[in-house]
Amino acid sequence: MPETQRSFPDWNLLYKNEKVVNMPWYNEHLDFDLEQEIIQRKITDNGGKFLDLGTGPGTQAVHLSKLGFDVTGNDLSEYAIEKARSLSDKVHFIVDDILNSQLKKNEFDYIFDRGCFHVISIEDRDKYVMTIKNILKDNGILFLKCFSDKEPHEEGPYRFSQDKIKEIFGNDFEILSIKETVYQGTLDPLPKALFVVMRKKG
Ligand SMILES: C[S@@+](CC[C@H](N)C(=O)[O-])C[C@H]1O[C@@H](n2cnc3c(N)ncnc32)[C@H](O)[C@@H]1O
Repeated sequence: MPETQRSFPDWNLLYKNEKVVNMPWYNEHLDFDLEQEIIQRKITDNGGKFLDLGTGPGTQAVHLSKLGFDVTGNDLSEYAIEKARSLSDKVHFIVDDILNSQLKKNEFDYIFDRGCFHVISIEDRDKYVMTIKNILKDNGILFLKCFSDKEPHEEGPYRFSQDKIKEIFGNDFEILSIKETVYQGTLDPLPKALFVVMRKKG
């Protein structure tokens, strides 16, 4: 069945009017799937540049910075970035639309996308993939968390099967692992999600 278009809030207005702690994606801790990968791959040993893409509340960026990475957090919402900046002066928080990004070519060793890709419109997915490919260094790694097609509730972001992820990213990225998990936040029950680790092809 063809995917139907989904609609999303005006992100900037949302961050202007609501407290981040009440947002469904708010997670004061580092996402546990990312944490496990960081430990298993021992990637803190060499540090490096990490982008927290669509950083929103900024909590993930701050945790990554505390682990010793040089972290940038971008978001298209000025209000989100203004609030996130109050959390840390170590993270480079910037207003930036990933579909029209000011980020430099080959800038990052790692990118974490927790919830941005799954709100990108169907027609902008190719542009998203091209941008990620452009700003990641060769062999750089994208950690992606998005809703899974196993999530039964209708509302919210786009959902993805493992095959769909392979179809979207497989030409440009080597899929290193993909697993069914949950999206930690303020919802009960936690939405079903995928956690994907992929390496930019040279
Ligand atoms: C579901 S929230 C996740 C926020 C954050 N990653 C977290 O885990 O707490 C999605 C975020 O993506 C941001 N966003 C949506 N479209 C974007 C775009 N084109 N470029 C940058 N950020 C975007 C939204 O403003 C929002 O903060």
